[in-house]
Amino acid sequence: MHAVRIPRHGGPEVLEPVDLPDPEPGEGQVLVELAAVGVNFIDTYFREGIYPAPLPLVPGLEGAGTVRAVGPGVTTVAPGDRVAWTNVLGSYATLVVAPAAELVVVPDTIDLETATAVSLQGMTAHYLVHDTHPVAAGEDVLVHAAAGGMGLLLCQMLRAKGARIIATTSSEEKDALAREAGAHETLRYGDDLAERVRALTDGGGVAVVYDGVGASTFDASLASLRVRGVLALYGAASGPVPPVDPQRLNSAGSVYLTRPSLAWHVRTPSELAARAGAVFSAVAAGDLSVRIGGRYPLDAAADAQRDLQSRRTTGKLLLLP
Ligand SMILES: NC(=O)c1ccc[n+]([C@@H]2O[C@H](COP(=O)([O-])OP(=O)(O)OC[C@H]3O[C@@H](n4cnc5c(N)ncnc54)[C@H](OP(=O)(O)O)[C@@H]3O)[C@@H](O)[C@H]2O)c1
Repeated sequence: MHAVRIPRHGGPEVLEPVDLPDPEPGEGQVLVELAAVGVNFIDTYFREGIYPAPLPLVPGLEGAGTVRAVGPGVTTVAPGDRVAWTNVLGSYATLVVAPAAELVVVPDTIDLETATAVSLQGMTAHYLVHDTHPVAAGEDVLVHAAAGGMGLLLCQMLRAKGARIIATTSSEEKDALAREAGAHETLRYGDDLAERVRALTDGGGVAVVYDGVGASTFDASLASLRVRGVLALYGAASGPVPPVDPQRLNSAGSVYLTRPSLAWHVRTPSELAARAGAVFSAVAAGDLSVRIGGRYPLDAAADAQRDLQSRRTTGKLLLLP
């Protein structure tokens, strides 16, 4: 099989194309031929060593493809089935062996590129909007990096719930995409961001901030919340947030801070199936659209990660094996 590997921690340049022996599925495992690989910010955290894992490592957690073989004991999928996943390390490859429990069957109405593009970020946006803070109609919300892969999906789901969406982006082109996805107001980042958010909310602040940017937005996010609002710090595109004194949450108005991740929101096969089903159904019904902002050959994974980290991209990036 062909893959892209991390031999040592470093910048995008360390990603190297390699040929490796074809893997075989063991007990409870499934061999899948990939149609598309999802590029996610978390892949860069593995490459940089922020998330420790033994090297050399084939990165990538997300993809979709066709089942080629199943190991002993697998009853949930069969050769020929079209499947997607969000938590199988080693997905930057033409073939991957996945635990059967990690796979969801892709409905016939959804092509495999779309399934890849919407799986990890779609289910993340779903738990953030329904579970981290169950958004109510009419609530003011703040979404950072609203034209990114996560941001565009969040805006659409928040709009469907009737929220009033204030969005941040870094350019006019990104503003336009955020508005198309449902944002009501768009703002640039900056020192006075929280004041501008308050000006748009009659001084009250927002019920929830969805912050996947991290270090550079954290202070403004906290200062933008209404009393007892929720800061959902779900990522660190600009770098990790330094340690926080809990007293700051009191001063900000007894606000709540959470650092959620998808793995804790798809913990059982039934929860995974329900969340994936909700996202796929929304796509099939035309209620959720996913913007594929870039397609790269598998061997150009370094270019994809470089583009993602340098804020040049919008929507979701895919690698095509
Ligand atoms: N916790 C979870 O369950 C979960 C799941 C999926 C993703 N995530 C997180 O969600 C975040 C977004 O992921 P994504 O894949 O959808 O990426 P993305 O939003 O498409 O790209 C990141 C965006 O962040 C903004 N940004 C602001 N400052 C930045 C900086 N210094 N460096 C790079 N980007 C910066 C940029 O938008 P502007 O140019 O408009 O500022 C950039 O386009 C990441 O932090 C990721 O780890 C978390």
